[in-house]
Amino acid sequence: MRDNEDQRVDGSRRTWLITTTVLGGIGGVAACVPFVGSFAPSEKAKAAGAPVEVDISGLKAGDLMTVAWRGKPVWILNRTDEMLADVKKAVPELADPDSKKVFSMPLPAYCNNEYRSRADHKNLLVAVAVCTHLGCTPTPRFQEGAQPNLPDDWPGGFLCPCHGSTYDLSGRVFKNKPAPDNLDIPPYMFTSATSLVIGKDEKGEA
Ligand code: FES
Repeated sequence: MRDNEDQRVDGSRRTWLITTTVLGGIGGVAACVPFVGSFAPSEKAKAAGAPVEVDISGLKAGDLMTVAWRGKPVWILNRTDEMLADVKKAVPELADPDSKKVFSMPLPAYCNNEYRSRADHKNLLVAVAVCTHLGCTPTPRFQEGAQPNLPDDWPGGFLCPCHGSTYDLSGRVFKNKPAPDNLDIPPYMFTSATSLVIGKDEKGEA
C-alpha cells in the first residue's frame, strides 16, 4: 500500500518536473538565443502535435534556437566545423554513441549517423531538449575545457542543471550519468534551404 502511494507521489512529481522544466527551459534558452515562432498551424493544432515550420535563415554558425513542438522545447543548433569535430571527440565517453537505444521516439533513419542529422545538412542538430532522466531542460555548454560542474576535458555539449547529466553536441548522453538515454531526435525535413518542418518528413507526419 505504502509502495503504491510512493509511486503515485513519484509519478505526480515527475509530471510536475517535466511540465515546469519544459516551460522554464523554453524561457531559459530563449533568454540567450532567439525564440523562433514562425508557426504556420494554429495554437490548437500545435498543442495537438501539428508539425511546426521554422525559418532558420537567421541562424548563424554556432547559434542555437528553440521552438515548441508538441509542448516540448526542440533545439535547432547550427554546429560549426569545430563543433562537429567535438562530436567525434566525445565518442569514447558516451553511453550509447551509436544511438542503439530508443527513448520516447525512434531515431529517424536519416539521422542514424554520428552527427544525428540529415546528410545534406549535417551541421544542423534538431533535438528534443528534454533530459531523459526526469525531464529537465539541459543548458548549452558549448565552450570546451574545464569549467564548473564539468570535467577538465569537456568537449562541449549540454549540461542538465537538475542532476548533472551531460550530452554531447549531437545530444548523446555521457557515461555514468543519471540520464539513461540520448535525447530524442524528432522527424523533420527541409522545405527550402532556409526552412524546415519539425514533426513531419518524407514518410508523413509523426
Ligand atoms: S532531469 Fe536531467 S539529470 Fe535529472
